[in-house]
Amino acid sequence: MRSVFCPGGIIATVHAALGYADGYLPEDEPLLAARANADDLGGCEPIRPATGAALRFLAAAIGTRTAVEIGTGCGSSGIWLLRGMRPDGVLTSVDLEPEYQRMARKAYAEAGFVANRYRLILGRALDVLPRLSDGTYDLVFCDTDVREYPDYLEAALRLLRVGGIVAFDDVVIPPELAGLEAAETDWGGPDLPQVREVAEILRADDRLTPLFLPVGEGLLAAVKRA
Ligand SMILES: C[S@@+](CC[C@H](N)C(=O)[O-])C[C@H]1O[C@@H](n2cnc3c(N)ncnc32)[C@H](O)[C@@H]1O
Repeated sequence: MRSVFCPGGIIATVHAALGYADGYLPEDEPLLAARANADDLGGCEPIRPATGAALRFLAAAIGTRTAVEIGTGCGSSGIWLLRGMRPDGVLTSVDLEPEYQRMARKAYAEAGFVANRYRLILGRALDVLPRLSDGTYDLVFCDTDVREYPDYLEAALRLLRVGGIVAFDDVVIPPELAGLEAAETDWGGPDLPQVREVAEILRADDRLTPLFLPVGEGLLAAVKRA
């Protein structure tokens, strides 16, 4: 990465890095098709390529066999996760919209994943998560209603094995989407109290090793160490 030593240079450098991160590992045909379907349907913004690459990296780094995704959408994040998981890994993905999951199934097939690599569960996350088994998952990825993130964190810590990873997208959402006036946001961290709460818990809990990655809309993650 090039450093620019001038007023505003840091900002130029950060912009360059973020742009490079999204373009470094660009979306291929199946991911572009999933994004186009999401654009057509509306209401389920796919993760950015750099976020997908980070998820794939995390999934690969810990040899993920079992992952839970909250927010299937039209399948973009699922494809990235499946590509990082072991060849026999199974993705469990939850969404309350059947049409999005229909598109996700199509996207997974186009990306070459057979049906036994994923399990799509239709329903509200907070109704579905209690039905999943404790301590059996390697990775939990959350990408739905940020106001429910504290509840997802509690569920994820129950579902994950020791050494597993929880990750949250949309940590840096625009104030208008958070229901706040732009003037209220003296930017020093996430705008929504629920997101701030999760960020603080991940940082303060000795049993967790946290990380914030400024990719896409902001990815917050932690390894469960105990
Ligand atoms: C941002 S989109 C997910 C995009 C997807 N991760 C991707 O990268 O393609 C959020 C999804 O969460 C779903 N959703 C919203 N609230 C939910 C809830 N309480 N339980 C389950 N799914 C929910 C929406 O239907 C939508 O598909």
